Amino acid sequence: MSSRHDALVSLEKQVFMPTVRRWPLSIVRGDGSRVWDVDGNEYLDLTAGWGVTSIGHCHPALVEAISDQARTLMQTTNVVYTEPQLELARRLARVAPGGIHRSFFTSSGAEANEGALKLAARRTGRSRFVATLGSFHGRTLGALGCLGQDKYRQPWSELVREARFVPYGDAGAARAALGDDVAAMIVEPVQGEGGVHVPPPGYLAELARACHEAGALLIADEVQTCMGRTGRWLAVEHDDVTPDIVTLGKGLGGGVPIAGFMATDDVMNAIVPGDHGGTYAGNPLSCRAAMAVFDVIEQDGLVERAAHLGQQVSGRLDAFAKLESERVEGVRGRGLLIGLVLREPALAARVHADVRERGVLVNLTAERVLRLFPALNIDEADLDRAVDVIESAIEAA
Ligand SMILES: Cc1ncc(COP(=O)(O)O)c(C=O)c1O
Repeated sequence: MSSRHDALVSLEKQVFMPTVRRWPLSIVRGDGSRVWDVDGNEYLDLTAGWGVTSIGHCHPALVEAISDQARTLMQTTNVVYTEPQLELARRLARVAPGGIHRSFFTSSGAEANEGALKLAARRTGRSRFVATLGSFHGRTLGALGCLGQDKYRQPWSELVREARFVPYGDAGAARAALGDDVAAMIVEPVQGEGGVHVPPPGYLAELARACHEAGALLIADEVQTCMGRTGRWLAVEHDDVTPDIVTLGKGLGGGVPIAGFMATDDVMNAIVPGDHGGTYAGNPLSCRAAMAVFDVIEQDGLVERAAHLGQQVSGRLDAFAKLESERVEGVRGRGLLIGLVLREPALAARVHADVRERGVLVNLTAERVLRLFPALNIDEADLDRAVDVIESAIEAA
């Protein structure tokens, strides 16, 4: 690695919080599904900035939209009306399941979940939550209380109010946990960070029924699965279910920080002015970015593309997994949110590093799951090449 990279490593030690264990890599530029490091080495990016750059890095339409908005209006006080936030809300209402047509925007997925939890508590007059083991909902205290992985939550156990955790995919266990003190159950339609788990068919619909019978709400955390990632605008559509609250993030802004939550009139009307807000809520720059992302997804048919391409790649990886069954357990996923499950964490770590050295970036999650969540418009040949690299790295391991 170059001295420029080394300088960043040492600068971080002096001036930044030790936030995560970083890869030995400093990225300076991105274009579509490619990124370049400080030394000019090129990588195929199947992480899309953790599922964010859904239309690729620095898409010209997104760059143009935010440049124009930056010249026009970047921020105002939140006590005035602005067009981008209401226009974005209108567009989201068109693709959300029936009845869910009121939005509120935040800057991060965790913050969107915080708002959703508050909203559910206000609507029901209750204060407990049910969540799933293995889930990820963000690092702020409310969201952390619902995060079903001990490694993230336990160190802060004195600060958070823990949800009641139930196994993911088990609607009976959820039903049993829904006491009359529960405001809502929060669930990812596909668990992403927890290892790309797809629930059995009918699971979300059954949760919605159980929640309503218990007088609670269902919150679908679509921070990772929204905006076409799973081959539908929202992943709840796979189960044909309308949750009470849906949270959004990541791919919504294509790289510009924006997230949010949506709900029915009935739920949103529980909030009164002053109950919830934020300086950057509905920020014109980020809302305009999200509209540009919407345009590209619609114009290029990227939702259908994610479904089709996802099926193709999963099929290919599935065949590979069968051939390499000693090292590979299988493939899970929906659309372009795919997990290749290796048998051993040590093997997964080796493969993960090797794949990067061969010029492909993927995420390693849940110790032994290679998570692929590329841009929805990744070139088919690039995706094939990336899969070639992953397969060769596993064969060589
Ligand atoms: C399902 C889900 N919810 C919430 C979050 C938190 O989002 P953010 O990191 O933007 O706060 C994430 C992030 O990975 C996520 O995958």
